This record gives sequence, C-alpha cells and structure tokens, in this order.
Amino acid sequence: MTSPTPARAIERLRAATRHDHRRLEDDLQVMRRLATPNGQRSMIGRYYDLHAPAECALAPLVADIPGLDFRLRRRAGLLEAALGQLGVRSPAEPSGPVPAIGSTAEALGFLYVLEGSSLGGRVILKTLAKGGHETGMLGFLDPYGPATGEMWRRFLAVLDRETSGDDGRVEAAVAGGLKGFAYARYCLCDEALAA
Ligand code: HEM
Repeated sequence: MTSPTPARAIERLRAATRHDHRRLEDDLQVMRRLATPNGQRSMIGRYYDLHAPAECALAPLVADIPGLDFRLRRRAGLLEAALGQLGVRSPAEPSGPVPAIGSTAEALGFLYVLEGSSLGGRVILKTLAKGGHETGMLGFLDPYGPATGEMWRRFLAVLDRETSGDDGRVEAAVAGGLKGFAYARYCLCDEALAA
C-alpha cells in the first residue's frame, strides 16, 4: 500500500484560512472605507501598522531565503511615503504587537497572508479607479502591478521548496497563516470587530 501524498503547504493554508479571509473581507468593508479621503487616511495608517512591524519581525527569518527577494516584497516604505504625503510622521521604530514567529516555515505562512493580499489589493485598486475614486496614495495595495502573477508564483515556489515533504514545516506554515490573518484583523478592522 502506498502512503498518501503529503498535503502541500499552500493547500493546507488555503483550507485553514479560507474562513478568516472571508470574515476579514466581509468586516473590512474596504471599498466603502477607501472611497473617501478620511477613510483612506485611516486605512493607510492601519495598513502601515500591519506591514511595518510584521516585516521587521519576519526579516530575520526570511531575508536570506534564496529566490524570495524579501527586500522587494516589503511594503512599509510605500506606506511611509503615503503617510508622508498626508503629513503624518511614521514612528521610527514600528512596535506593533506582532505574534511571536518561531521558524522559517511559520514566517512563510505569515508572509502568505501579506503576499496574498496583493492579489485582492490589485482588484480593489482597479475597482476604485473604475469608480472614479482618487487612488494616488493607494499604490501599496498593488505593489507589483503587472508583475503580480509572477511575484505570487515565485512566492508559492519558495513556500513549496521550504516546506514540502515535511509535515512539521507544513503545520508550522499553517500556524503562521492563522497568526497572519489574526494580526491583519487586529490591525485593519475596527477594535470592536477585531476580537
Ligand atoms: C477586504 C478586501 C479584500 C478583498 C476584496 C480581497 C479579495 C481577494 C481576491 C479576489 C483574491 C483572489 C485573487 C486571485 O485569485 O487572483 C484574494 C486572495 C487573497 N487574499 Fe484577499 N481580499 C481582501 C483583503 C485581504 C486582506 C486584508 C488580506 C490579508 C492581509 C488578504 C489575503 C489574501 C490571501 C492570502 C489571498 C491568497 C489566497 C490564495 O490564493 O491562496 N486579502 N483576495
């Protein structure tokens, strides 16, 4: 009898976080919130609070992974520029309460959440632009533009290479994905919704 094929991290991540993504999408009401200057201002701050501390926490674990190009994936700089345009100074040391991340596989699971948000972000940005809304400060939603598909495929290839065939690593990636969505919810949703 052959042993069952081990699940790949991406399949396990999708299955484990599908509900969290749906709940975040439903509660965030992102189109409504990004349709006004005040809403954009508040969301840019919230996205900064998500990306800046998370990227600092992930960097020691993922910066040297071959083929990942983590430096290119960091979005805090784009958000800092947007905050600068708004006249809001970003803190020198981001200090959000990012959950502790214990391994490279767990960090990649967390990064799955941040990278995946570029897929939806591209759709959101296009829809806002089509609706005639100002999108000049929202480039952080679609950081890769036409290279989005390529960046996503490269991320998935790295995730697969770093976890495949090792159930412990696949499980760690899933734990990282769940922490990533919990943190995104904490940062992006209203306090009352974040619980
Ligand atoms: C609130 C508005 C959001 C909408 C409308 C939205 C929409 C989408 C859409 C349409 C996709 C699939 C894109 C494709 O297959 O080409 C997607 C993927 C994804 N989004 Fe979102 N999204 C939203 C927010 C977020 C946020 C805030 C996060 C995390 C911070 C997130 C994480 C992800 C992930 C991880 C995927 C990849 C799923 C996969 O293929 O494995 N999304 N989103």
